[in-house]
Amino acid sequence: HGYFTYDPGFLSTASCDSNITFIDGEEGLLFYRGYPIEQLAEHSDFMEVSYLLIYGELPNAEQKEKFTNTITRHSMVHDQLTHIFRGFRRDAHPMAVMVGVVGSMSAFYHEAIDVSDPRNREFAAHRLLAKVPTIAAWSYKYNVGQPFMYPKNRFNYAENFMHMMFATPCEDYEPNPVLAKAFERILILHADHEQNASTSTVRLAGSSGANPFACVAAGIASLWGPAHGGANEATLKMLEEIGDISRIGEYIKRAKDKTDSFRLMGFGHRVYRNMDPRAAIMRQTCHQVLDELGLNDDPMFKLALELEKIALEDEYFVSRRLYPNVDFYSGIVMRAMGIPNSMFTAIFALARTVGWVAQWNEMMSDPGSKIGRPRQLYTGPERRDFLPLDQR
Ligand code: CMC
Repeated sequence: HGYFTYDPGFLSTASCDSNITFIDGEEGLLFYRGYPIEQLAEHSDFMEVSYLLIYGELPNAEQKEKFTNTITRHSMVHDQLTHIFRGFRRDAHPMAVMVGVVGSMSAFYHEAIDVSDPRNREFAAHRLLAKVPTIAAWSYKYNVGQPFMYPKNRFNYAENFMHMMFATPCEDYEPNPVLAKAFERILILHADHEQNASTSTVRLAGSSGANPFACVAAGIASLWGPAHGGANEATLKMLEEIGDISRIGEYIKRAKDKTDSFRLMGFGHRVYRNMDPRAAIMRQTCHQVLDELGLNDDPMFKLALELEKIALEDEYFVSRRLYPNVDFYSGIVMRAMGIPNSMFTAIFALARTVGWVAQWNEMMSDPGSKIGRPRQLYTGPERRDFLPLDQR
């Protein structure tokens, strides 16, 4: 098969060139457009980071204000979209709702979108960035049977999402600045991660010239799985299941057992063979949030710290260079904020939307980009002749 390489799981295939995100997995480095993630998480905010990912540079004050106003102005969704929500079972998983509702936005923005025109691509990027939080928050409201809350323009991006999640028509939501900052940090840390499964899915779907809202829905579908974005929900479920420090050993043993499909959720990464730099920031944020809420003795956090310690000293994890990833601690932070487990991956999706649209736009702007079309190694039967039904 000399003319193509066989690389299942794309372990050694670069599918594109990109100037958005740099990862050095050996050193545990993550940069957006050259800026270290630690600096962005500490000093920047999500609107700036979004601008940086989409346009390539940090905005100046005027650009930032204009961009923020645009995103704020577009945060309402078409009211017809509420009918699409109501078509779902009321106990539908928020990610199922997200896949459907974000995909359905392609029907609202299709005729107008000739994706070869950069202005149309910018239009789609702004709409997606602005509206996905509304859809994510509404998938929660629908789930708990509360009225949908409309966005409030006086809030920033993170506060507005928390408002749409937690306010009701009876009670306003007053954002706690420490929690809002922590939420913003979750958004920044998850905003982009080069050619991961969901981003590659968005690129592959988009490479045919498909509608960008539909492509992002495909990305959400890919993110859902527990090996990818679903790991934050799965980590919390695992910690709840372990329940007590005394039972960690039993679960470590299971994770090492090759006949058991159980894996330590929130551990390991395809690219990082060192600490995921996002996990280190998330652990620190976790301390800040629990401090703020007076939950320093949170048993789940203690359990996570202990589990991390034991795993990092275990030969199995050490020799395979398995370290905690971003999702190991993000669930504990969100849980402390009152966000239910079932929303964790939807929040990952809302944070990653900017990365998806930036990557999609980069691909669409490249005149040399081609439709994605991997080859295969055929392992099926050789040529054979059809047999009529009575002879089979
Ligand atoms: N627990 C136990 N063993 C593990 C784990 C784990 N979490 N992760 C990897 N391994 C073992 C695996 O069994 C294999 O062992 P061996 O060489 O003996 O067969 C070895 O480590 C290499 O693993 P792999 O599956 O070949 O590595 P991969 O690059 O294909 O998978 C991964 C990466 C993230 C899917 C995997 O580490 C995993 O399933 N982790 C748990 C799920 C998780 O936390 N995912 C979130 C990723 S970060 C958020 C995001 O960006 O989506």
